[in-house]
Amino acid sequence: MSKESLSSRVSNWFKDRLGLDDLPLFKTPDYMFHVNEWLGALVAGAFFYTVISGLILLLYYNPEAGYDATETIINTVPYGSVFLYSHLYGSYAMIILAYIHMFRNYFTGAYKKPRELLWIFGVLMLVLTLGASFLGYSLIGDVLATSAVDVGAGIISSVPQLSFLLPILFGNYDSGDFTRVLAWHIILVALIGFLFVFHLLMAERYGMIPSRKVKPKAPAVYTKEEDQKFNPWWPRNFVYMMSLIFLTWGFIIAIPNALAYLNGLPQELDPFLNPKPAPPPSSPLAAQVTTYPPWFFLFVYKIADFTSDVVLFLLIGVIIPLVYLLLVPFIDRTDELHPLKRRVFTGIGILMITYLVQTSIWGDIQPGIQVSVAEQVLAYLPPAIIVAIGMAFLPYREKGSTRTKVPMFKKAQFSSPIAVLLFMILAMLMAGAATLFLASPSPLSAAIFLPILSLFVFYAKALTPVAIKAMPQGDSSAPDSTSETINSTDVIKLERKKRIATYMIGVLLIMSAIIAADMWTIPSTGFESTMWGIDLGLLFIMLGEAISLYHYVVYKKPNESYE
Ligand code: HEM
Repeated sequence: MSKESLSSRVSNWFKDRLGLDDLPLFKTPDYMFHVNEWLGALVAGAFFYTVISGLILLLYYNPEAGYDATETIINTVPYGSVFLYSHLYGSYAMIILAYIHMFRNYFTGAYKKPRELLWIFGVLMLVLTLGASFLGYSLIGDVLATSAVDVGAGIISSVPQLSFLLPILFGNYDSGDFTRVLAWHIILVALIGFLFVFHLLMAERYGMIPSRKVKPKAPAVYTKEEDQKFNPWWPRNFVYMMSLIFLTWGFIIAIPNALAYLNGLPQELDPFLNPKPAPPPSSPLAAQVTTYPPWFFLFVYKIADFTSDVVLFLLIGVIIPLVYLLLVPFIDRTDELHPLKRRVFTGIGILMITYLVQTSIWGDIQPGIQVSVAEQVLAYLPPAIIVAIGMAFLPYREKGSTRTKVPMFKKAQFSSPIAVLLFMILAMLMAGAATLFLASPSPLSAAIFLPILSLFVFYAKALTPVAIKAMPQGDSSAPDSTSETINSTDVIKLERKKRIATYMIGVLLIMSAIIAADMWTIPSTGFESTMWGIDLGLLFIMLGEAISLYHYVVYKKPNESYE
């Protein structure tokens, strides 16, 4: 009789009953079990969380009295504040992760053949995500939300041909009735879900883009024969995905509840990152609130300060970047995937990120202050020049030959005592610049802080391997190792790490059980319930970490490394 373990019998039962091996699901090579390759799964995790928490909130939300309904959910519905705050942060996480996912795919060239349509659906999903988040933010009904809708409505009504859209989109929001806004919020989320099905089907069909070492040119897909050698979706992919989703959920729940528990944030970040609502527009306190747009639209609102011509504003801020992103698979026609072999597109990508961050920070620091054309040129030309020079002169090195080539800076340059001293000075400068930036954020303090930060990160990265090498590494008397001896020591090391990981799983599960027991003692409403939210978040983080360790213990092979 075969000695199949209980877990593999259960696993096989599911695989068999669900016919998982027959589904067109991507088989994953070992080296792809790295979070970089799974950013889409993180976005999907955040999306599912917002849908689940949103459906719970929908049971209690009354769109005809938006602000009062929000207050009722926070103050009287059991765990209402936990779900409300984490729903808000779930959408924030989704936006940030979708940007990271998009730009990662942009720089890897994952928009190229055969993934063009997958990319286009992604862009549409990002637009819908921003729209759904804006409408959801408006449902709070506080002074921030109402003023955000006011500005949005103002932009639309300033194009006479579009004003007919106003009642259709926003209804009677100015009298506190958010029925129409809620309807659109749900419609957009449903559309994201609809597009996601196709996005995922295509991602599974073509698989994640292989390492450039294996497939340096488009179309980058594994052949059917290659595919057969990889890990089937069930159970390894599933286990890995669950660990990532649990971790994502954990942070989405824990962070806003911790912020609410600590009762707010530093003043500079307060208006738009605080999960708690501001006063309603009718309250006398509303006059004291600086009205900000939601942070993810700060850049659009700042561009509105560049020109009074709304059509021009829409072109610069929305239409041109969007059309570019939609069409890039058809503009960048070469089969090159390396970012330095398609320098123009790489440069445009870097500039898009720079301008997005720069304009958002500007919008935060100087909201609603008109900007002359000269100031615009002064702000946007230098990054363009720096990127253009970088793209023109950055040397391209063939993959594979990189290790044998002389590095740009020799490691020794970073390991001398003077270099370490310089690094310490740089670290102190960085701390000073960070404090200056946080204490008085302005374009000047940002201009001081950001270059020092980049230099610090660059230097720290260069110094880390030297520092690790300098640390005692155990058996240094071992003779020069052949590849075989490396393999056997690798196996022993891995076994040791796996044993530690197994103990850690036990510790995490015991801690999770303690936290779960503690959660029963926390009141379900009122201020303390945010502590329940923190616990729930921690529980997900611990379970996510435990699953990740389980994945490591059960599936990690000795020679598996990320490429
Ligand atoms: C907004 C919600 C989005 C969700 C839920 C989502 C989800 C996913 C998932 C689950 C995958 C499978 C592989 C992985 O886990 O990375 C994937 C792949 C992909 N997504 Fe998205 N995505 C979203 C947005 C976007 C955006 C904005 C873009 C780009 C404009 C994009 C472009 C792609 C591409 C090109 C791939 C294939 C990646 C590869 O081959 O390595 N997605 N997405």
